[in-house]
Amino acid sequence: MGNGLIFPEGFIWGAATASYQVEGAWNEDGKGESIWDRFSHTPGKVKNNDTGDVAIDHYHRMQEDVALMGDLGLQAYRFSISWPRILPLGRGKVNQAGLDFYDRLVDSLLEKKIDPFVTLYHWDLPQALQDEGGWPVRSTAEAFVEYADVVSRYLGDRVRHWVTHNEPSVVANLGYLLELHAPGVHDDDLAAMRSAHHLLLAHGWAVPVIRSNSPGSEVGIVNNMSYTPTASPSRADRQAQLHGDSLWVRMYFDPLFGRGYPADRMLDLKEKGVFDICKNDLILPGDMASIETPLDFIGLNYYSRNIIRSQAIPEAENLPVTLHPQPKETLNYTEMGWENYAPGLLQVLGRLHFEYQVPKIYITENGASYSTAPDANGRIADYERLRYLREHFRVAHEAIDLGVPLAGYFVWSLFDNFEWGEGYSQRFGIIWVDYETQERILKDSALWYKDVIARNGLVIADN
Ligand code: FCB
Repeated sequence: MGNGLIFPEGFIWGAATASYQVEGAWNEDGKGESIWDRFSHTPGKVKNNDTGDVAIDHYHRMQEDVALMGDLGLQAYRFSISWPRILPLGRGKVNQAGLDFYDRLVDSLLEKKIDPFVTLYHWDLPQALQDEGGWPVRSTAEAFVEYADVVSRYLGDRVRHWVTHNEPSVVANLGYLLELHAPGVHDDDLAAMRSAHHLLLAHGWAVPVIRSNSPGSEVGIVNNMSYTPTASPSRADRQAQLHGDSLWVRMYFDPLFGRGYPADRMLDLKEKGVFDICKNDLILPGDMASIETPLDFIGLNYYSRNIIRSQAIPEAENLPVTLHPQPKETLNYTEMGWENYAPGLLQVLGRLHFEYQVPKIYITENGASYSTAPDANGRIADYERLRYLREHFRVAHEAIDLGVPLAGYFVWSLFDNFEWGEGYSQRFGIIWVDYETQERILKDSALWYKDVIARNGLVIADN
């Protein structure tokens, strides 16, 4: 182990945010309304009725925030672009002030030698497009390509890493099936299926456009994966696991890697009478070929293990043996209620590598929600977060040793911010934000991360 755990030369250390979660300025300088503006302004949708109207005011504090990134020695910053800031109605008229903001952000980052990783869609669809049907309709995918074209033409000379979508599974399943995210329609499996297809199509169509506007850059897509072992070897648990895996993982990775939509999910939809892949007007000739356009990388968002135990089948029909017998209380959870389980990262990275043979992987999000606040001296001793990150770094290193093509890592998140349906109740940042004064304070995890970046790894004392 030498002097510690050192990462390969050129490994990229970064941190991530997303437009709606940090920017604020929701209706300034010509920005159009997004589905998250509409959703958060609807009482009862977000915890405490919190909104992203102001968020952490990053739109006005961008220079100060980039200076903090410089202080930490960040090598890359993953952020997203607000589509309605660029095209207030989703297509057509371009809002120059919106482009100017991201133009300044990119230049400020480059001045500090911080590589911008741009995500085009991190969930804030222009409301105007939702009014026309949103992701369940094909014209939204067409509008996305127009948007990707405008942005990549403008920033393509300086941005070297592009992400089309963040977590399309969450967009389709939480937005159009489970009602937990904007647009908050409680629709059905058909709307989720249609959304999934149009999200993937939008991605596949946009990739060549981005490549031609930004020659030599890397283009990829970000998905989340948890490690999902079954609680027991019973058939019921295994079925529940396969069902979840088809809905959240294979539905996206299979078509991206040329395998088409998963047969078990398609059968499920057919049996429910909602969608028949053999007779449908959704998947048109050429669509699947567009979706499987080769990618430069996959972005993985990993947070947790989720042990699968079937709810549908009575306990008695499950085998008495459990592989993961710990009662819930003895597992280690973050404040989000997500289990802190670093070994799962190796399982998930291994799966991407061996099963899908992805060319390159960035961990585009990983981190933990703990609310540790400033003490009497203004210090924030967030050891749980620090330990969470350290464990995941060790596992990332192990994965590289095993041959996984892992090229970089982004902490979620750089700042405390608006955590979607949870509002401001969950703090994921390595930098504390006082939501009253907008003061930023580096937590101990940020100071420690600065050291990790400087050494390109962990020191012995960390091991
Ligand atoms: C991910 C999202 C990100 C953040 C984290 C906690 O699913 O991509 O915006 O909310 O979860």
